[in-house]
Amino acid sequence: MKLKEKLELFTKQKRGLLATNFYNLETLHGVLRAASELNEPVILQLTQSSIDYMGLDSAVKMGRAGLEQFGVEGWIHLDHGGSVELVQKCLDAGFDSVMIDGSELPFEENIKITREVVKRAQSYGAHVEAELGYVAKLGQSHGKQGFTQPDEAKSFVDATGVDALAVAIGTAHGFYKEKPNLDIQLLKAIAKVANATLVLHGSSGVPHSQVQEAISNGICKVNLATEIKNIFMNTLKNELTDSTEIDLRKVFPKATSQVTDLVKTKLLMIKNESHAKTLH
Ligand code: 13P
Ligand code: ZN
Repeated sequence: MKLKEKLELFTKQKRGLLATNFYNLETLHGVLRAASELNEPVILQLTQSSIDYMGLDSAVKMGRAGLEQFGVEGWIHLDHGGSVELVQKCLDAGFDSVMIDGSELPFEENIKITREVVKRAQSYGAHVEAELGYVAKLGQSHGKQGFTQPDEAKSFVDATGVDALAVAIGTAHGFYKEKPNLDIQLLKAIAKVANATLVLHGSSGVPHSQVQEAISNGICKVNLATEIKNIFMNTLKNELTDSTEIDLRKVFPKATSQVTDLVKTKLLMIKNESHAKTLH
């Protein structure tokens, strides 16, 4: 199924679609094993840094081969694309979906760059995500407020024809210093007027009940990155303390399987079954 159709279907069903970042073969396989064991679809995301680290073609081929190997339905997505040039390279490399992140640009400039990406993605049949509002990036202040305004979200989606919109409703990237408190009323108001799939960035560290409430009120795509890196690296560190093992194939599997366990809990979370039950 095309990603757009899947997201529209899941939005109707008030369930989420998990979008996980991967950084190497181990984190990719950790995610895919979880999706395969639970028979759930997943979006595999690459940022510019991950593309630089693995190489564009290798990263895409690795993602596709992994989906095939684990028998998982999934899509390759550019996360936080910072320029039209990068988006173009990803479209040429066969991405199913691209994000253009103009969230730090003035409103009109964000519309302009997003429009350009929507136009280019059309002939590739690729899905496009944009962002409106301030979702703090790693190292940026969590204190600054820049929540997405419903009227602006509507105008933005209408003016750009974008498929998915990342909204600022109280999340931030990375770990939280204080417990986040998502603005569900604001989300409801955005969902009412914006004709696009709504995306929650910065889901690491958000209590599962809040993510589920967000899904019940309009969010569909849920982005997860920091918790994956964190569990992988911390497990590795523990494994390596006092170890003289040099066979990396014996060292990595424990960390990979911790990623699998984490992603399984997130896949169960985004299914949002308690809501599904209340629908019946
Ligand atoms: P976290 O790193 O906070 O999970 O956010 C992920 C994200 O939004 C990727 O775009
Ligand atoms: Zn993000």
